[in-house]
Amino acid sequence: MSQALNLKGVSKGWPSGETALQDVDLALASGEFVSIVGPSGCGKSTLLRIVAGLDTPTSGEVSVKAQTTEFVFQDPTLLPWLTVLENVSLPLVLAGERNDDVARSSLSEVGLAADIDKLPRELSGGMKMRTSVARALVTKPDLFLLDEPFSAVDELRREDLNRMLLSLHDQRRFACLLVTHSVNEAVLLGDRVLLMSNNPGRMAAEVHIPIPRSERFERRFDQDFVSLTRAVAMALRGSSL
Ligand SMILES: Nc1ncnc2c1ncn2[C@@H]1O[C@H](COP(=O)(O)OP(=O)(O)OP(=O)(O)O)[C@@H](O)[C@H]1O
Ligand SMILES: [Mg+2]
Repeated sequence: MSQALNLKGVSKGWPSGETALQDVDLALASGEFVSIVGPSGCGKSTLLRIVAGLDTPTSGEVSVKAQTTEFVFQDPTLLPWLTVLENVSLPLVLAGERNDDVARSSLSEVGLAADIDKLPRELSGGMKMRTSVARALVTKPDLFLLDEPFSAVDELRREDLNRMLLSLHDQRRFACLLVTHSVNEAVLLGDRVLLMSNNPGRMAAEVHIPIPRSERFERRFDQDFVSLTRAVAMALRGSSL
C-alpha cells in the first residue's frame, strides 16, 4: 500500500528547553484516516505544523509522500470582503488557475451550493467551517491536516460536519490526520485513533476502529461503537495522569 506520510523519530524541543515532541513515529497510508487525541499541550498542533512544513523538527525524519497537502484550522480564516465563492476560489486564483466551476463543485460537496454569493458575516459558524473545507478541497489534496476543525461548533452542527467529512473522505479518499479533543469524533472518523501523552509529547497508544466507515454514522450509538469510545477515553485518561 502506498504511503502518504512517514515520520521517524521526530522530536521537537523549544529554546526554553521544553520538549514538545519526543521520538514520534507515524506512518499514514494513502487514503487512511487517522485521528489524534491527547491532553492539551502534548504537541498535537506542533506535530501537524511539522508535517505541513510550518515548523521544523529538532531531530528525526519527515517524509511527506502526498503531492498536495491542505491544512484546515479551527479558525476558518475567511476574507470578510470576499463572497463565499471568491473565498473558495482564492487558492486557485493565487496559483493563476482561476476556476469557478471547481470552486462551485467543492461548495456543493460541502452543502453550500445555495450560499455562494453570501459574505462571511452572513454565515453561521458551521457554514464558515464548510467554506473553509471547500476552499481546501479546490486544490484536490491527497493529504488533509485538520486541527480541531469543528470544536467551535455546537453539538448538532458538529455531527453534520462529521457526516460531511465521512462522505467527503468516501468520495475523495484523501489521507487525513485529524486532531480533536472529542473522543467520539475521533472514533467516528478514524480508521485508527492515536493517543498522545504529555511531558514530553509521545505516541502512547493506538486503537483500531474496525467498524466499516459506511456504517459509522448510523451505528454511532450501538454497543460496539460505544465500547470503542470507552476504550479510547479510558486510555486517554491513563495517559494524562
Ligand atoms: N512556537 C512555540 N514556542 C515555544 N513553545 C511552544 C510553541 N508552540 C507551542 N509551544 C509549546 O509546545 C507544547 C505543545 O504545544 P501544542 O500547541 O503543539 O499542543 P497541543 O497538543 O496542540 O495543545 P491543545 O490541545 O491545547 O491545542 C506546549 O507546551 C506549548 O506551550
Ligand atoms: Mg493544538
